[in-house]
Amino acid sequence: MRLVLIGPPNAGKGTQARKIEAHYDIAHVSSGDILRKHVADATVLGQRAQGYMDRGELVPDDLIIDLVNDTLESTDIEKGFLFDGYPRNPVQAEALDDFLLEKGVTLDKVIYLHTDDDVLIRRATGRRICPICSTVYNIFGFAPKVEGVCDRDGAQLIQRSDDKEETVKRRLEIFEEQTAPLVEFYELAGLLLHIDASGTPDDVFDAVISELDQG
Ligand code: AP5
Repeated sequence: MRLVLIGPPNAGKGTQARKIEAHYDIAHVSSGDILRKHVADATVLGQRAQGYMDRGELVPDDLIIDLVNDTLESTDIEKGFLFDGYPRNPVQAEALDDFLLEKGVTLDKVIYLHTDDDVLIRRATGRRICPICSTVYNIFGFAPKVEGVCDRDGAQLIQRSDDKEETVKRRLEIFEEQTAPLVEFYELAGLLLHIDASGTPDDVFDAVISELDQG
């Protein structure tokens, strides 16, 4: 399986990516996770990216394309892969095509998760993440056993700085302006799977697997 997962902020891309990765035993490459790791480690690249991320804007293409290509060089993508949050605009889609062409592979499907903006904003304001193991929770339904504490490692959960309501609204605008054109691009290429992401994570996962297994 060689897959791309696109969708607006908080559609559940990371949640589904972890399930799909385990189901097909493929590599999961999340551009947001890669960037957050750089920010947490205070690398030069992380310092350059942080302002854009805090404002809810895309980091510059040159930065993200090099970063993802570097990650891919050291990732085993032989068995398949799932890109989560990348590509995010037509320039990145072209860069991905070039990379895959060089490797002699093509994409199988692009999964587009979508639901209403009010659902996305509610999910954002309820999201909490573990700074150690990156497990994602939500106070409106997927809460940890003990409030504010990670079930896996006992760390204090945090709220992402870009999950404030006004930043989420900005991220939604950016999605419409810059990422939504990819929906048509991949639809025309015959690769797009439309998935309604408003159900429970298990419902959404079942819909994804059922579509993928139909080929
Ligand atoms: P990134 O981390 O990619 O953020 P995003 O696309 O905005 O997506 P999110 O991580 O916010 O949400 P998600 O869809 O993964 O949802 P999740 O599963 O966590 O990017 C962050 C920033 O990095 C960008 O703004 C940009 O600055 C930069 N960046 C990243 N990639 C870039 C690129 N390619 N180019 C340039 N810049 C880039 O779920 C959300 C919440 O909802 C959770 O609490 C979860 O528990 C809950 N939930 C999930 N599914 C369900 C469900 N079905 N029902 C109820 N609750 C659910």
